[in-house]
Amino acid sequence: MNQKVQDAINEQIADEFYASYLYLSMMTYFEAESLGGYAQWMRMQAEEEHAHAMKLVDFLIERGGRVQLQAIDKPKAEFDSPLAVMQAALAHEQKVTESINNLYELAVAERDYPAQVMLQWFVTEQVEEEASAGALVDQLTLAGDSGSALLMLDAKVGQRTTTA
Ligand code: FEO
Repeated sequence: MNQKVQDAINEQIADEFYASYLYLSMMTYFEAESLGGYAQWMRMQAEEEHAHAMKLVDFLIERGGRVQLQAIDKPKAEFDSPLAVMQAALAHEQKVTESINNLYELAVAERDYPAQVMLQWFVTEQVEEEASAGALVDQLTLAGDSGSALLMLDAKVGQRTTTA
């Protein structure tokens, strides 16, 4: 397959594994803060990012490409508040959206049609990813310094049982 597209997908695989690692780190922060609901949400999110990485891994394998796994950076582990965590998660998703868009642009420029079709899934997914992280930022902003509001939100957010 096209070398430039393959290289860029390998970069994206590393980004998705990093995202999984970052959300795992955020999960441990929430566990340490006794916010089990947010921890559960992050646990699901980490699994979802792992699935994103694997989707790209399988795409390269199917195309006869070569997967080259990269080193994964150490994720941030300390945060100032639950709101700061979700703001960091949203900022990360915005970064991922940008890299997916760049990857799509490359697939168009290189006339790699199968990659374009596969990446359309990611383009749609990023809309959802930003929307869900954004909603959690908004809710935590509304909760402000209220401990009872935070506990209510934690119970609600913890109902997440799927990675989608
Ligand atoms: Fe795989 Fe949250 O982007």
